[in-house]
Amino acid sequence: MPHARSKTVVHVIGARPNYMKIAPVMEALRPAPGIRQVLINTGQHYDQSMAGSFLNELDLPAPDHDLGVGSGSHAVQTAKVMIAFEEICLAERPDLVVVVGDVNSTLAASLVAAKLVIPIAHVEAGLRSGDRAMPEEINRIVTDRLADLLLTPSRDADANLLAEGTPREKIHFVGNVMIDTLRRHQRMATLDRVRNRIPVGDAPYAVLTLHRPSNVDNRETFGSILQAIRVVAATMPVVFPVHPRTRSRLREFELEAELEGVILTEPLGYIDFLSLTANAAIMLTDSGGLQEESTALGIPCLTLRENTERPATVTDGTNRVVGTRAADIIDGFTTAMSDGTAARMPELWDGHAAERVATVIREFLSR
Ligand code: UD1
Repeated sequence: MPHARSKTVVHVIGARPNYMKIAPVMEALRPAPGIRQVLINTGQHYDQSMAGSFLNELDLPAPDHDLGVGSGSHAVQTAKVMIAFEEICLAERPDLVVVVGDVNSTLAASLVAAKLVIPIAHVEAGLRSGDRAMPEEINRIVTDRLADLLLTPSRDADANLLAEGTPREKIHFVGNVMIDTLRRHQRMATLDRVRNRIPVGDAPYAVLTLHRPSNVDNRETFGSILQAIRVVAATMPVVFPVHPRTRSRLREFELEAELEGVILTEPLGYIDFLSLTANAAIMLTDSGGLQEESTALGIPCLTLRENTERPATVTDGTNRVVGTRAADIIDGFTTAMSDGTAARMPELWDGHAAERVATVIREFLSR
């Protein structure tokens, strides 16, 4: 009898929040006999601080293909990924395409795979903010509609998919792969790593991140957030690693003066950033991933948005969704600092989610 052909699994990464999700999945699949793994980097992010350092730190193999798409409007960026990724799929003939999260590269790769009738596994499926003004929400909805394996991080995600009519057998509750990566690197995350660049001591400090277009592309909203940050900065040092989009808006809107007392840094690598957050008194953010990481670290988080696609971080974790009005952020800060944190870990955020992803994938490929 001829040997069964080995199966090809193509993993897609492209933007900063992808690397820490793919890394544990590739590692968990590595010992699987008969599976050839191929890593595609779309290049949606390209700076060393936004992409390169993560590839190096997270034990990811060198990508087999770099698509080099770079920045652009949503249509341009999505289309560029699609054109280049289609060629890769025709050459590699994958048996499964694995996409993670909700960035433009996730959507683009899913559209290409679906049209070529290649099965898709979506890691972090089912999250919904209910806010279609968020580009990520469109990416989530379409990717989930196209995917064959919907690997969910939390029970609310299962409920969202079922409510949209997704067949139950496509949904696999596996837990949160980002927390696998966090647990793996937590021991290395010490303040000594960053103290030479960031002047924080043993006294409490806050960490701020902002990059959502809805927050930083609007001068009024951005200004209102920074007004609250000045109040926080009067209480404790605020460390602010600045995303490139945010850096340009600060300049364009001439808001730098509002940042008096705030410690600005370039975007940090994965372990440096974890070192900073793991030792912080509080985080203020509009990121999705940081809401989860703060919950995993047991550190209070204020989400500077009107909604969240990660409600388990509020119901179980340390997160409060406070919006973008200065008074509400300040209220949230005061409450969070006086209330303490009595959080529990959301179900299956146990550091073993990628192993469950690998089991589902192996079973799917052996059908
Ligand atoms: C993207 C994702 C968002 C994710 C975020 C993490 C989409 C729709 N958005 O948003 O979900 O939370 O990444 O950072 O996929 N730039 C650089 N260097 C880089 C990358 C970007 O300078 O390496 C600058 C460019 O000016 C670019 C801007 O940042 O135009 C925004 O980058 P882009 O990839 O369009 O979106 P993000 O805001 O990073």
